Amino acid sequence: NSSRRHLSSAHSLPPTYEKLFNKYTEVRRVLGKQRLTLAEKILYSHLHNVEESLLNNTNNGRDIRGKANLRLNPDRVNMQDASAQMALLQFMSCNLERPAIPASIHCDHLIVGSKGAEDDLEAGIQTNKEVFDFLESAARKYGMDFWPPGAGIIHQTVLENYALPGLMMLGTDSHSPNAGGLTTITIGVGGADAVEALVGAPWELKAPKVLGVELIGKLDPWVAPKDVILRLAGELTVRGGTGSIIEYFGPGVDTLSLTGMATACNMGAEVGATTSIFPYTEASARYLRATSRGQAAQNVETLQNFPGAGADKDAYFQFKADEGAEYDRVIKIDLSQLEPHINGPFTPDLATPLSKFKATVKEQKWPESLSAGLIGSCTNSSYEDMTRVESLLKQAANAGLKPASDFYVTPGSEQIRATLERDGTLQTIEGAGGILLSNACGPCIGQWQRHDGVEKGTSNAILTSYNRNFRGRNDGNPETMNFLASPEIVTAMAFAGSTTFNPMTDALKTPDGKDFKFSPPHGLEGPQTPFESGNPSLGVLSQPADPSAEIAISPTSDRLAFLEPFPPFPQSDLSGLRVLVKITGKCTTDTISAAGPWLKYKGHLPNISTNTLNTAINAETGEVNVAYDLDGSKHTIPELGQRWKDAGREWLVVAEHNYGEGSAREHAALQPRYLGARIVLVKSFARIHETNLKKQGVVPLTFENEADYDLISAGDEVSTVGLYEMLQNGGKGSVQIKVKRGNGEEKLIPTKHAITEDQAGFILAGSALNLLSKGI
Ligand code: F3S
Repeated sequence: NSSRRHLSSAHSLPPTYEKLFNKYTEVRRVLGKQRLTLAEKILYSHLHNVEESLLNNTNNGRDIRGKANLRLNPDRVNMQDASAQMALLQFMSCNLERPAIPASIHCDHLIVGSKGAEDDLEAGIQTNKEVFDFLESAARKYGMDFWPPGAGIIHQTVLENYALPGLMMLGTDSHSPNAGGLTTITIGVGGADAVEALVGAPWELKAPKVLGVELIGKLDPWVAPKDVILRLAGELTVRGGTGSIIEYFGPGVDTLSLTGMATACNMGAEVGATTSIFPYTEASARYLRATSRGQAAQNVETLQNFPGAGADKDAYFQFKADEGAEYDRVIKIDLSQLEPHINGPFTPDLATPLSKFKATVKEQKWPESLSAGLIGSCTNSSYEDMTRVESLLKQAANAGLKPASDFYVTPGSEQIRATLERDGTLQTIEGAGGILLSNACGPCIGQWQRHDGVEKGTSNAILTSYNRNFRGRNDGNPETMNFLASPEIVTAMAFAGSTTFNPMTDALKTPDGKDFKFSPPHGLEGPQTPFESGNPSLGVLSQPADPSAEIAISPTSDRLAFLEPFPPFPQSDLSGLRVLVKITGKCTTDTISAAGPWLKYKGHLPNISTNTLNTAINAETGEVNVAYDLDGSKHTIPELGQRWKDAGREWLVVAEHNYGEGSAREHAALQPRYLGARIVLVKSFARIHETNLKKQGVVPLTFENEADYDLISAGDEVSTVGLYEMLQNGGKGSVQIKVKRGNGEEKLIPTKHAITEDQAGFILAGSALNLLSKGI
C-alpha cells in the first residue's frame, strides 16, 4: 500500500522532516485530492491522530475549517519571562524530569528602558534577580534553553534560532506568530496551554479558517512590509482575523525580505488572527544561511524534492499552498499601489495613509508636536529595517540635521545589535543622537521611564515602529497618543519633530537655512557576511536536563512560590459550600485578577490571590470589593476567600453574563481555585475562561433559568445534586444546586454545563495537569 511505502522511504529524509512527511502522507491519504492551503498542510501534519481529527465532526473530511476539533502535537514551546513563571511553576507540579518537547525561556519583558542599554540592563537584572535566577534554575533542571536578560526579545531570538519551515510551535506571548515569516506555524497561548504541550498532551484548537492575502506588485522605496499589515489592520479591524490563520500568497511575496514577512506575521495578532504564515521563498533560504543555518535550507530543499511514493505531485511537501486551494476570504493588495501608513492612536486598526495624515491630525486636533520616535522591538529591528534607517540618518547628518524628537532604538537581539555594531550602523544611530536601549521589550511593554518631562495625564504624541498601541501601553500615561509606522517613517518624522511632516513630499530647513528633502530610504536585506553572535555572556545556556539541580525559590520570596497540585475532587457530591459573594454587572478577567502593579506577583499565587475579584460589584450592597462573613463581619472579597480557605470552607461565586470576558489570563482561574472556589455559577461565561476554570478543577455552571439568579444570596449554603455522577459519566447528565437559605428554606436550582469527557477527567483529578502528568 502506497502510504506504507511513504513511511519507509521517509527514512532517507533529514530527521527534522521525517515526522512531518509521514504525517503529511497520512493527511493526503485521508483527504484525497482536496486542495490544501499552506497553513492546513503544516497544521494538519501536526495532528495527534489524523483520521480522528479530520473525519470527526466534518463532512467526511470536507468542511474541516471552523468545525473539526484539532488535537495537535507542537514541535516546541517558547516562553517569555513574565508568562514563563506560572507556566514553569505548573510544569514543576507535575514532577516530570523533563519536558516532552524542546522549550526555551527568554528574559525580555522585565527590563525597563530608561538611560541606555548598559545601565538599564544592570538595573533590570538587580530588580528582577530572583525571577531570572528562578527561570535559569528551572531551565537547568529541565534542559530548556535559557536566554539571559540582554540576549534579545523572544520573537527575534526565535526567528534567528528556532523557527524552521514546516514546524509548529507554541509561544506564551501573543506576537509569537512572528515566526510565520519563516513558514513556521506559531501560536500565542497562555501558560497552562504551554504546559499541556510540555507534558506531551495533545493541544486542542478549533480548526481555523484561512484568510488569504494575495500580494502582487512591488513596494515603492518609501514603503515597507510593515505597511502591508498596517493597511490590512485598517481593513480587518482588531477582530477581523478572529478564528482565522492569515496566509499570504501571490507573486508579490517573492519581492519581500524574510524579516519583512516576519513583521507582517507578528502584527497579525493585532487583527486577532490565530497566526499568520508566508510561503518559503528564496529570501527565506538566504535568511537561513545568514543566520548560520545553511543545513536547514538544504533540508528544506531535500524535502521539497522528496517524491515519497513517486508520480503524484501532491506527495511532495511544498512550502506553499496547492494550486487551486480555496481560502475562506481573499484580500488582494497591490504592493505597487501601497502607501506608508500611520495607525493610531490607541488602537492598531485606525489606519491613515501618510498622504492624509497631516489633514487628519489637524481635523482630529491630535498633537502636532512629536515628543518621541521609538524604533526596534520584536516587530521591526531587522538588519533591513536598521540599514534603511541608517540611510536616512546619513542623509540628515550630511545636511547637519539632528532628530528634533527624542529618538530611541531597541534592538531585537544581541545578534542583530552586534552585527549592526560591526557594520557601523549603530555608530550612525548613536552619532545622530539616538539612544540605544537594551535588547529587550522596554518601552513596548510599559517599561519606559521617560526623561522628557511629559507628566502623566499630559496629552502628547509619540511614533513607534512597534506593533501595539493601546492606551498607556508605552509609558503608563493614558494621554500619550501612540502612533504606529515603519521604522523609516518614524525616523524621518523624528527629524521634523512633527506629526504633520510628510517625508515623501515635505522639506526640512537645515541649520544654514537651506531646504532639505529626504531621498527614499534604502538598505540591505541582510549582512554581507553572516551575523555576529555578539557578547558571549548574552548567549544561550543550552544543556541537557539535570534532575539533581535545585530550583531557586527563596522561602521568603514575595514574587515566587512553589505551586502545590490541587487536591482531587471528593468521591461524592459537594456539600457545605457557601456563596462567597454574589456579583452584579461585568466581571472580566481583569475584575477577577487585576494586572498593572500585580504583574510582579505572577509567580506567587498566594500573593497575587490577594487581588481576587477586587473590583467586583457586590450585587446585594452595590459595594466594590466587599463581602460579608456569616457572622456579618465586613471584608474585602479576597480577604473573606482567604478566611474561608483557612477555615477549610469551600465556596462558590454567583455572577451574571459573560463572566471572565477579556483575556485568556490563567490567573483568573488559578486564584479562585487556590482560595477554595469549587463552583462558579453564572448566567453565561466567556468561552476561554470557562475552559480555563475546568482546567484548574473549578466547575463552571450556568443557570438553566436566568431568573434563578435572584433565588440565591451571599452566605447561602449550597450542595450539588448529580454533579459527581455527571463527572463520572464523562460529562453526561444534569446538575442541580440545592440552596439552603439563612431561614432554613431549601430550593433546587437547575443548571447547565458544557463539560466534555476530557474536562470531567480534569475536574475529578483536581486539575488538567494532575491528570495529564499521570498519563506520561
Ligand atoms: Fe516585547 Fe513588545 Fe514584542 S512586549 S515581545 S517587544 S510586542
